[in-house]
Amino acid sequence: MDSILVRGGGELNGVIPIAGAKNACLTLMPATLLTEEPLTLTNAPRLSDIRTMTQLLQSLGAEVSALQGGKVLAMSSHDIHNHTADYDIVRKMRASILVLGPMLARDGHAVVSLPGGCAIGARPVDLHLKALEAMGADLDLRDGYVHAKAPGGRLKGAVVEFPIVSVGATENALLAATLAKGTTVLKNAAREPEIVDLAQCLRRMGAQIEGEGTSTITIQGVDRLGGGTHPVVTDRIELGTYMLAPAICGGEVECLGGRLDLVGAFAEKLDEAGVSVTETERGLKVARKNGRVKAVNVTTEPFPGFPTDLQAQMMALLCTADGTSVLEEKIFENRFMHAPELIRMGAKVDVHGGHATVTGVEKLRGAPVMATDLRASVSLILAGLAAEGETVVSRVYHLDRGYEHVEDKLGACGAKIERIKG
Ligand code: EPZ
Repeated sequence: MDSILVRGGGELNGVIPIAGAKNACLTLMPATLLTEEPLTLTNAPRLSDIRTMTQLLQSLGAEVSALQGGKVLAMSSHDIHNHTADYDIVRKMRASILVLGPMLARDGHAVVSLPGGCAIGARPVDLHLKALEAMGADLDLRDGYVHAKAPGGRLKGAVVEFPIVSVGATENALLAATLAKGTTVLKNAAREPEIVDLAQCLRRMGAQIEGEGTSTITIQGVDRLGGGTHPVVTDRIELGTYMLAPAICGGEVECLGGRLDLVGAFAEKLDEAGVSVTETERGLKVARKNGRVKAVNVTTEPFPGFPTDLQAQMMALLCTADGTSVLEEKIFENRFMHAPELIRMGAKVDVHGGHATVTGVEKLRGAPVMATDLRASVSLILAGLAAEGETVVSRVYHLDRGYEHVEDKLGACGAKIERIKG
């Protein structure tokens, strides 16, 4: 298994291009199942999760070709001959559940494995299933699989009110509703940029959708959808991660393709901590030039609040801030697993339930560390860049799920970082 070696201590200066969003691409790809015509995604990120979704779609009979080194995904689902998403793929990646809504909407039946456990929290899929049931689906849970049928072969429009905001459940319901008979209203829907991107792509394909980006989305079902070409929105979590690199190490980095509207609440916290963020013609420039950052309190919330997917990286910053910060994690119940690893690097972090109290230290020290999820791994790399000495981050396969060419992107800004093949 590969690991990443980081030698910390230096400032970072330079330019980092931000890729298309993993989490947008993972919901855009299943949209191919809604149409017999070709759907092409441009600005796709080159990540192992995207390859897993490719394998899943191919196992169902879709044709998926990665062109231009993987930046373009050309998909066609004219012949879907298998309607079962197998456990072997679904267990690798929870986003696999997103094929359920489209398959059911197009062909009236689908069988999808239940995803099972996850390191950051229980992450059930009950809200996905309830939304589809409200749209008329008959669901039967057997042998670890959801067996779904639409009576008469077609889902019907419904009013679906989500009890809590769920990105994935909103996406599954939105995908399914495009081909349902009649009108669907999704209330308390997620407002994440990935939902807006999905709605825009579906509209290009002929779907009738209004209200994406607000908490009420209205979909008028149509009889068929066509193909199209759609650029994947910028990855706001990769953007936020690289914005933190100069914040932690000092220096100035311009993130190409960065947009303030994608990271509003996060950028406000950086500003409060004393890190400057400015819009440029090409993206966002982030600089920390004067001494330590200040402690700030952070609460994770659904968009437009502070994203849970940047909490671990923000904690890495606050470990060397002047003062005490409290981080509250409100989305996932077990998302502080980076804390014990940061403590091994000399951080002072006290986790109590959904809160972590971080008392900043002058310097972190390098150490061998390991991570149990994607965002935790990158937070340890950021901490390693700011630490004295060497940090080796193991279990890098988590990192490769969501960050393309980390070593190259940070290395181009002066970071001493290399991958050790193992
Ligand atoms: C998406 O996961 C992202 N994944 C996650 O990114 C992200 O952390 C999360 O949204 C929150 O922003 C993808 O887009 C592929 P949710 P998702 O449904 O859709 C509970 C990363 O690092 N819930 O919004 O699975 C759930 O347990 C990843 O890139 C139910 O109770 O998240 C959680 O507490 C990790 N029942 C809350 O809702 C359900 O049926 C929000 O989860 C669904 C969710």
